[in-house]
Amino acid sequence: MAETVLLVGGGGREHAIARALAGDCVLYNCAGNRNPGIATLADGVEILDATDPEAVTSYACEVEATLAVIGPEAPLEAGIVDALEDAGIYAFGPRREQARIETDKAFQRQFLDEHGIPGNPDFETFEDVEEACTYIEAYDGDLAVKPAGLTGGKGVRVIGDQLGAEEAKAYLRESDYDRVVLEERLVGEEFTIQALVANGEFRASPAVQDHKRAYEDDEGPNTGGMGSYSDAVRELPFMTHEEYEQAISILGATVDALEGYKGILYGQFMLTAEGPKIVEFNARFGDPEAMNTLPVFDTPLLEVLVAARENETLPDLEFAEQATVCKYAVPEGYPEDPTAGTAIEIDPESAGDALLFYASVENRDGGIYTTTSRAVAVVGLADTITDAEGIAEEALSVAGEGLRVRHDIGTPDLVQARIDHMTELRGN
Ligand code: AMP
Ligand code: GLY
Repeated sequence: MAETVLLVGGGGREHAIARALAGDCVLYNCAGNRNPGIATLADGVEILDATDPEAVTSYACEVEATLAVIGPEAPLEAGIVDALEDAGIYAFGPRREQARIETDKAFQRQFLDEHGIPGNPDFETFEDVEEACTYIEAYDGDLAVKPAGLTGGKGVRVIGDQLGAEEAKAYLRESDYDRVVLEERLVGEEFTIQALVANGEFRASPAVQDHKRAYEDDEGPNTGGMGSYSDAVRELPFMTHEEYEQAISILGATVDALEGYKGILYGQFMLTAEGPKIVEFNARFGDPEAMNTLPVFDTPLLEVLVAARENETLPDLEFAEQATVCKYAVPEGYPEDPTAGTAIEIDPESAGDALLFYASVENRDGGIYTTTSRAVAVVGLADTITDAEGIAEEALSVAGEGLRVRHDIGTPDLVQARIDHMTELRGN
């Protein structure tokens, strides 16, 4: 029997998930926006509030979904998986309680601490802003300041990197968060490993490096992620294979501690001079990282989802030995003061050898226009990071005014700067 999959979410990450599934199943999509890329791959698209359990479940029942895949974190926090499962539909994603590993950063740190997971930095949680400010004053060293709840990756401030202690206190006093986590600032190079988890097992994918800062040379405010790269091997050029394996063992220990978790476990690590440390865990694929990882899957994603549902051993994940470079084109002014309404000239044809993924766009009057969020991503695949970068840049050459790109992502200079940074930290 053919599977019918309902994909929840309408961003670039979900376009990549749709591409990985299309052709292997009957595919439906529901989201708050109509993603033109997903629409060409899916048998049906429903515009609804993806955080409304009743709306999603009723659409899943209407299309007779045999499986559901949840893209973003907000539906997980809203209990979409719980609702689908109560309706008898297997959903590849954690139930609300299990999704707290992402949705509650205070819970996350405490959980990792209680289970003795290696690589968890020193942290304290606060409900009172003034107590947090006192802690910042007394702390000997730099801290990362994190609201405990979801902020789309934009709520964290790192003392000694983006701001000073006085500004951090002002930020807390202005922001009015219920709970904040203050944790030891980790120094090194960041990377992501995404794992598929079910039935007590996990299958990990190659490491990816995202670029959170809005502007070239890692300047400017944090964004959802401006672009990312991966190499033709599992590790990245600035890490050893052993360090990659250390991160995998942290992921494995976390999967064991999470008992019964299913879905994606996304580990964000900082490679420090002392090895990989945990920046955070997410309960879903990364955006943009899914666009690096899913296109190099040789094992069909559907096979993993079905094995997960059937309580079978997960198939080994095979990957094409290709490097990938993903670059987002974002509206001018993003993330602080984005200008919407720019016509997007990049299309699947003009993208040439690159893959094109739509994110937040508006489809009207026969054209595709920017909104106030990340608009489209292109992904180059090749034997080397440098060649993949060239393919991505070529596809972006038609991006006109009103769109901004970090042209430095994946360039030999920036990759070398990452390697040099680690060499310097290691002191050799
Ligand atoms: P998060 O929302 O936890 O992913 O944090 C956003 C970004 O803040 C991360 O990608 C890091 O660049 C930075 N960050 C978070 N926690 C820390 C930390 N403990 N030390 C240094 N940087 C951090
Ligand atoms: N790229 C960061 C995230 O998906 O959280």
